[in-house]
Amino acid sequence: FKIKKMDLKKYIRDIQDFPKPGIVFKDITPLLLDVDARDYALQQMLSAVKDKPIDKVVGVESRGFFFGMLLAQALNVGFVPVRKPKKLPYKTIAATYELEYGTDSLEIHVDAISKGDKVLIHDDVLATGGTSKAVTELVEELGGTVVQCNFLMELTFLKGSDRLKGNEIYAAVTY
Ligand code: PRP
Ligand code: MG
Repeated sequence: FKIKKMDLKKYIRDIQDFPKPGIVFKDITPLLLDVDARDYALQQMLSAVKDKPIDKVVGVESRGFFFGMLLAQALNVGFVPVRKPKKLPYKTIAATYELEYGTDSLEIHVDAISKGDKVLIHDDVLATGGTSKAVTELVEELGGTVVQCNFLMELTFLKGSDRLKGNEIYAAVTY
């Protein structure tokens, strides 16, 4: 079925000064609440990978889990959680990325990706690109190939796409 065009920005609200003064947070919870908007967003992201072979979807904790699992279900492939440190119970590898102050890292189970897997990486937001870049490193270290870095939204003014050079990027909504 085909739903008519929707303006997803109507379902993403600005929250001033969250989580810190001066930051305008893009809140996607209204979009998660609305069945039509949520499905429309999912269909948009799916249409961006139409005809691309995909073996696994990797979703990034926490907000990448929402649509990451929906994408995996729709594509009929396995879902892999990339998690914050010390959350995954089995053997992991880690990749470090920069924050405004200091660094953080993300982990993946070593058996989550097999050599040659074609991987769709999903997260809710592409901001500076540090998070997604670390995820591409994890996937590639395990022998996977990143087919696309897929986002619900991209904050283009933060130039995250520069960090992801060489990777295909798709975002359903851009600011
Ligand atoms: C946010 C967002 C992305 C990332 C984007 O996650 O959900 O994952 O930052 O930023 P970047 O492109 O500058 O790396 P956050 O680390 O706040 O955690 P959360 O998803 O658990 O809320
Ligand atoms: Mg996140």
